[in-house]
Amino acid sequence: MTSPETNPAALSSEIARRRTFAIISHPDAGKTTITEKLLLYGGAIQEAGSVTAKEGRSHTKSDWMSIEQQRGISISSSALTFEYAGRHVNLLDTPGHQDFSEDTYRTLTAADSALMVLDAARGVQAQTEKLFAVCRNRGIPILTFVNKMDRPAQDPFELLEQLEGILKITAVPLTWPIGDGPDFKGVYDLQTQQVLAFERTSGGKHRAPMQTSGLDDPKLDALVGADLAAKLREDVELIQGAMPEFDPAKFLTGELTPVFFGSAMNNFGVEHFLSNFVDLAPPPGAVETNLGERGPEAPFAGFIFKLQANMSKQHRDRTAYMRVMSGHFERGMDVTHTRTGRKLRLSQAHTLFAQDREKVEEAYPGDIVGLVNPGVFQIGDVISLDAKVTLPGFPRFTPETFATISLKDVGKRKAFMKGLTQLAEEGVVQVFYPTDGARDPYLGAVGPLQFEVFQARLQEEYGVDVEMHVTSYGLVRWLAGDPSNVARFARHVEDDQGRPVMLFRSKYDLEYTAEQHPEIEFLPLPKDL
Ligand code: G4P
Repeated sequence: MTSPETNPAALSSEIARRRTFAIISHPDAGKTTITEKLLLYGGAIQEAGSVTAKEGRSHTKSDWMSIEQQRGISISSSALTFEYAGRHVNLLDTPGHQDFSEDTYRTLTAADSALMVLDAARGVQAQTEKLFAVCRNRGIPILTFVNKMDRPAQDPFELLEQLEGILKITAVPLTWPIGDGPDFKGVYDLQTQQVLAFERTSGGKHRAPMQTSGLDDPKLDALVGADLAAKLREDVELIQGAMPEFDPAKFLTGELTPVFFGSAMNNFGVEHFLSNFVDLAPPPGAVETNLGERGPEAPFAGFIFKLQANMSKQHRDRTAYMRVMSGHFERGMDVTHTRTGRKLRLSQAHTLFAQDREKVEEAYPGDIVGLVNPGVFQIGDVISLDAKVTLPGFPRFTPETFATISLKDVGKRKAFMKGLTQLAEEGVVQVFYPTDGARDPYLGAVGPLQFEVFQARLQEEYGVDVEMHVTSYGLVRWLAGDPSNVARFARHVEDDQGRPVMLFRSKYDLEYTAEQHPEIEFLPLPKDL
C-alpha cells in the first residue's frame, strides 16, 4: 500500500471522511442516552444500555472511576469512534456536570463541531449557555437536537425563539415534531418532505422501526391522527412562509444552527439526525498556529488537549490526549516536541475507549490518540514531524471557590506533592501556593464537587489523606505592577506558573484593597468563557 505521505489523494480522502464532534448540554438533557444511541447506530455497540452510567444500569465505558460510578455522573472525557455511512466519526465525550468545566473547555478545543442537546421541556439552560459560549468563541458549527419529545414539551416555535433570543443564533428546523408527550408521533423532515413515524420499542433497546409518507399522503391522517396531521400541515406552512432557509455557509461559521427533534430514549429521530450530521458537519480544517494557518494536508502534527493520570487500575500511568491536526500519524514515528525541542518516538499510542486499550497503528486529522505521558506533555503542547509549530493559549477557567488543604500524615508529603501536581495538571483543580512556603496551598475550583473529586482521587490513586476546608474567598485576580511592590504585598499567593495572584472574599474586598494599594495592578480576568 502506498503510504498517505506519498499518496496525497489517500490522505485527502481520509480527511474528508472524518467528523470529530462533542456534545454540549445541561446535565440531564440526555447526552449520555444520545451517545449510547449514536454508538448503537454506528454499530459500535450491539444493544443500548451498555454505555449509560446511571445507577441500576450497566456502566458506561467512558465512566470508569468509582466516584463517577457512585454519583452516576460522567467526570472524565474520552473519545469514542465509529463508522457511519462511510464516515469515520470521533465523538469526544465531555463531562456534563457544571463543576468540570475546564475539562470540557479543553475538550471542545479538539472538536470540529458540536451537538447541542436540549431538554424539550426546559429549553436553553445555564450550562447550555456557558458551553455554547465556548463553541461560539471558537467559531465551530453547532447542530441542535431537542430531546425528550415523548414528554410534555415547550411549543417548538418557542424553543426556536429561545435559541435566537438567548443564544443569538439563527435556528432553522430541519425536522418538525408531530405532537409531544404521550401524543408524540414522530417528526416531519422539512427537506425531504417525508413523515418519519416512529413506534416505541421496549425500553428503546433496538433500532426503532420507521415508516415514511409525504405530507399530502392521505395515509398521514391515519398514521398520526387527523388533529395532529392538520396541525402539522399548518406548522409547515408557517415555517415555509416565515422562517429563513437553511444556509450551509452560515452554519459553518456558527451563525445558524439546524434543529432536529426527537426522543433519544425511545430512538426517535437519532439515526435520522446522525445521517444528516455526517453530511452537514465539517471535516477537519486548518488550524491557526505561530506559523500561520496549517491545513490538515500538511505533514504530521498533533496537539495535546487533555492529560489524565491513573486512567484505570490496570494502567497506572499518565495519558496525554492528542488530536491529530495534520498529516498521517503512524505508531513509532519520530517527532519533535516543539515546546522543548526534544525528539520523541511515539511508540506508545492507544485508543481512549476507557479501560479497553488498543494500540493505534495510524491516525488521520481529527482523530484522537492516547499517548503515554512520562511527564513531558502539557496542555496545548504540539508534536510535529517538520516545523516548530506552536498554538496560541488554551482556555482556562476562573475559579470561584477556594479551599485550604492540609496533609493528615506528614510522612506522605512526597506522594502528596506528586498527586497535587498531577491532578492540577489535569485541571481537576487549580493550585495557588503561598509565597512564604509555610502555609498550605489553596485549591481553586468552579464548584465544590471538584474538591471532593480531588480528595477522593488523592486518596485512591496516591494513598494520601487530606483535610480540606472551603474558605470564604470567592474571587481571584492576577497581579501586575512593579515586581518589588508585588513582592512586598503580603497577601499574595502564586499560581502554578509562579505568577502573583490574590484571593478576595467579595467584590467589595477587591475594590477596597485596590484603593488601598494603588501601586499594585489587579489585572482583569482573561476573556470570560
Ligand atoms: P445526561 O447525560 O445529559 O446527564 O442525561 P442522560 O442521558 O443520563 O439522561 C438523563 C435522564 O433523562 C435519564 O433518566 C434518561 O433516561 C432520561 N432521558 C434521556 N432521553 C430521554 C428521552 O428522550 N425521553 C425521556 N422521557 N427521558 C429521557 P434517569 O431517570 O436519570 O435515568 P433512568 O431512570 O432512565 O435510568
